[in-house]
Amino acid sequence: MSSKKSGFTAFCLLVASMLVVSACGVTTPSIASPQAPATVVPATMAAPVLLPTATMTALPTPVEIFSWWVGPGEADGLAAMVALFNHEYPQYTIVNAAVAGGGGTNAQAVLATRLAAGDPPDSWQAHAGQETIGTYVAGNEVKPLDDFFASTGFGKVLPATLLPLISKDGHPYSVPVDIHRSNVMWYNPKVLAIAKVTIPVGGFTNWNDFFKACDKIKATGKVCLSLGPEGFTAMHLFENVMIGTMGAAKWDGLWTRPPTTNWNGPDVRTSIANFQKALSYTNSDALTLSDWQPASKMVADGDAAFNIMGDWAEGYFANAAPNGLALKPHVGFDWTPAPGTQGIFVFLSDSFVLPIGNKNPDGTMAWLALAASKAGQEAFNPLKGSICARTDCNPAFFSEYSQGAMQDWATDIVVGSLTHGVVANNNWKAAIDTALKLYLTDPTRADQFQGALAAACKSAGSCQ
Ligand code: GAL
Repeated sequence: MSSKKSGFTAFCLLVASMLVVSACGVTTPSIASPQAPATVVPATMAAPVLLPTATMTALPTPVEIFSWWVGPGEADGLAAMVALFNHEYPQYTIVNAAVAGGGGTNAQAVLATRLAAGDPPDSWQAHAGQETIGTYVAGNEVKPLDDFFASTGFGKVLPATLLPLISKDGHPYSVPVDIHRSNVMWYNPKVLAIAKVTIPVGGFTNWNDFFKACDKIKATGKVCLSLGPEGFTAMHLFENVMIGTMGAAKWDGLWTRPPTTNWNGPDVRTSIANFQKALSYTNSDALTLSDWQPASKMVADGDAAFNIMGDWAEGYFANAAPNGLALKPHVGFDWTPAPGTQGIFVFLSDSFVLPIGNKNPDGTMAWLALAASKAGQEAFNPLKGSICARTDCNPAFFSEYSQGAMQDWATDIVVGSLTHGVVANNNWKAAIDTALKLYLTDPTRADQFQGALAAACKSAGSCQ
């Protein structure tokens, strides 16, 4: 998880945010660039002189884009993509319908209500994997994108791992815009130095070694592992503990149908024991924090040593103020894999869908073309802390952290995140979340928690 810093990157981030994108080469035509999106550009764009005056002077048509990218660090990437869209498609204007709340906990509830009422946004953020396929496709809420993929060739620039996760019966259903890594442990080098804690090369190989480091941190009066509220951060920590305890193959085995890893067995039991111990090193006010950012900020402020969070935290740490903390890598913040997850890339991918029954399908297709494009992904991802879903983005536009993530993505064992929609559909995840919330009220009730997890697998129809 390391590589080199490029001053050019910072320049391009600034340039991208100012939308003078050609200076960084991000407008280079590509098979899915907004300059050449084949069938996805409404005919009105190609021949504006033929338009009736009334159409030419009409106000831009609103395109409602629904996400949860509102908070510090999160909003920057979306803003860059929206600005590029408004520039490329002046006949439309984005209505940003983002609902605050990291991990989408609030947004997904609002979305479910809107879908139930037959009022879909023009497009929404959906995680690749079971969130898209086992929830929105299964619920008959989104349309297949075969024509879009055929006309743009987008599928050819996606990693082989990703395409099946957005497809059902060979039909693609969403447009991935990023790849995030969830098993990153961010830390404050100064807090570690004061406690005389050294991270082994490559990271802590197991949770017990990490707990020993935590004892040293605790002795200096600092929090060892900062944690946010229940929304999603507890599940995020739990999945990292599980993967770091049982390894990639057994984690995968929890999600096969039927599972090859026993939800009632020793791997889950040891994971819960490690999770219970990890919780004992977290801040006592975790539940009262407003979101993931305040927990990450505890590390930035030197109040805590470590925080396990996806690499959207890198956007927050490194982006310019006021939205980001403008910290320098290796000085204000640093990173290592979550304990026990060296060589594993726990991944998730944000994508956008074409809803059934939306108000403005042409505008949606323009948004999808922008989201799929090289220029769109090169504007969005460097600010978001993610790497492109596309395989052809220019690494020079990215931070040192992200360049390392690109290398790890290519060489590590890749597994899917539960918290961020890859391995379980929304119903199964909700059942796990209910069990987890109950457990957090009394972390000594490990047996009940494990029983509830096994029951959730059964209700999901995966366990016998
Ligand atoms: C994830 C999402 C990321 C980031 C994160 C924190 O679910 O995929 O893009 O937004 O939540 O809010």
